[in-house]
Amino acid sequence: MIDNFEHKAKTWDNPMQMEMTSKFVSKIKESIFCYKEDVVAEVGCGTGLVGLSFLDIIQKIYMIDNSPSMLNVLREKLNTNLHKAKVEIIENDFENTNLKDLSGVLNFMSLHHIENISAYFDKVKQSLKDNGFLAIGDLVTEDGTFHSNAIVPHFGFDVRELSELLEQKGFTILRKTIYDKVEKNNRTYPLFIIIAQK
Ligand SMILES: C[S@@+](CC[C@H](N)C(=O)[O-])C[C@H]1O[C@@H](n2cnc3c(N)ncnc32)[C@H](O)[C@@H]1O
Repeated sequence: MIDNFEHKAKTWDNPMQMEMTSKFVSKIKESIFCYKEDVVAEVGCGTGLVGLSFLDIIQKIYMIDNSPSMLNVLREKLNTNLHKAKVEIIENDFENTNLKDLSGVLNFMSLHHIENISAYFDKVKQSLKDNGFLAIGDLVTEDGTFHSNAIVPHFGFDVRELSELLEQKGFTILRKTIYDKVEKNNRTYPLFIIIAQK
């Protein structure tokens, strides 16, 4: 498998990324109540900036990513993390996993890397228990300049279309909003959050 993040992993935790992930985490925590019994998965967890922020309030998290170099940075962080026993790393595409009865699935800036969104939502639904949540944070439709030197399957998303697809798949939309923006390449890219429930 090609590691698309090999050259980015070591410097991934830069101030821009840390600010973006921390705003996403705050938004989730003010929108959903997590329980100590919750078993969550983060898809495209990268170096763990989002998932590690939930360790003190949940039972377990599967941190899933197909980039060995991003996961190696995460593994280094876990060496000194008090809650490391709560983390199970899965080095694979989420589409190849077979998780069941999850309380929630987190996706931050990873959905635009996933080719078949319709099949992905089906897979998430199969992996969630009843009333489980899917929380997505990603770019609003952009002109392709966000990834100036990489090819990605989606240049962001139309929030209404994505919500309608989730509803067609049987999810209920709890919240959807444009909650932040990121400045890059002298441009402003709005970020959305959608929280859906199975
Ligand atoms: C833009 S990075 C975001 C990383 C992290 N969520 C963050 O915000 O710091 C996208 C991540 O998704 C991972 N990824 C892409 N497609 C994936 C898939 N199908 N299954 C699991 N991980 C995937 C990439 O390897 C990469 O680490």
